[in-house]
Amino acid sequence: MKGESAMKKVGVLTGGGDCPGLNPVIRAVVRYAIKENYEVVGIKNGWKGLIEINAVKLDLASVSGILPKGGTIIGTSRTNPYKLDGGVDKVKKNFKSLGLEALIAIGGEDTLGVAAKLYKEGLNVVGAPKTIDNDLSCTDVTFGFDTAINVATEAIDRLHTTAESHNRIMVVEVMGRHAGWIAIESGIAGGADVILIPEIPIDINEVCELLKKRHERGKSFSIVVVAEGAQLKEGDMVKQEEKLDAFGHVRLGGIGHTLGEMIEAKTGYETRVTVLGHIQRGGTPTAFDRVLGTRFGVKAMQLVVAKDYGKMTALQGIAIKAVPMEQAVCKLKTVDMELYDIAKVFFG
Ligand code: F6P
Repeated sequence: MKGESAMKKVGVLTGGGDCPGLNPVIRAVVRYAIKENYEVVGIKNGWKGLIEINAVKLDLASVSGILPKGGTIIGTSRTNPYKLDGGVDKVKKNFKSLGLEALIAIGGEDTLGVAAKLYKEGLNVVGAPKTIDNDLSCTDVTFGFDTAINVATEAIDRLHTTAESHNRIMVVEVMGRHAGWIAIESGIAGGADVILIPEIPIDINEVCELLKKRHERGKSFSIVVVAEGAQLKEGDMVKQEEKLDAFGHVRLGGIGHTLGEMIEAKTGYETRVTVLGHIQRGGTPTAFDRVLGTRFGVKAMQLVVAKDYGKMTALQGIAIKAVPMEQAVCKLKTVDMELYDIAKVFFG
């Protein structure tokens, strides 16, 4: 057993919106790292913690009992060092002063985009893909997505019974940013009658025709699932505010209410709107996300041990692979049209 002085140090941070499964990744990193005689430093609140040197030692006790917990024990932020004066220099300097051999960045396209750039600039970084949106390339799925679709599916199931009792149309707005993965998969699983995604502009007349036909054949209620990033054919994207965050994203949300009003006006059917919001991101991860997070955490640490930097862990088929981080963030993964065609079979 090597002494403390022989120990190598690895940092771990979580960036961007939190998501179920982050704690299982952190736990796996720490457990595997300790076996490999590494000390783990938790960088608090994403890149912000590396700019400000806000870090804590993570040991066995720190990760005990966190597997079923949602959120992240080390906090997160949407800080972008490339948008802050001297931010990148501070990150590089503090990486050294903390004595890190490598850093594991757990995040989505923004956090891993920063990680990929830092790797190009000489830092030893590896990544693990998180996001409920499931919009990262090179991995079949990101952790957090399974939990989100299960939460959304349960909500759709519950809305069915109240919709049916009142002869109503229920519009359910789900998250997902500019990809319709949450909408399409929870919509299929929940038996939605119409699913609207950012990949296909909304034709409101077509939607109302589908709903009318359904009601004409005796159905007294309908469920419409809409992704927050879906856009009407005519009109601008509905946003909560115009302000952009440090990565250039607008705050989406509100299309559900716009759509609900239009549907009620055009069909005459009483319509109600439910916006699921952050409920999709909170709470305990599903077993799938716990296992995927655990596999990603171990793999990320294996990449560190092998000094195979610049890579992101990925699920391809049933295997965990390592892919170049740069490739994973260069293109948004949107809903594939084969899946959309399957969903369409059940519209109306
Ligand atoms: O990327 C995850 C996500 O939940 C998106 O689906 C959503 O648009 C966004 O984050 C919400 O961000 P915030 O937590 O800043 O409101």
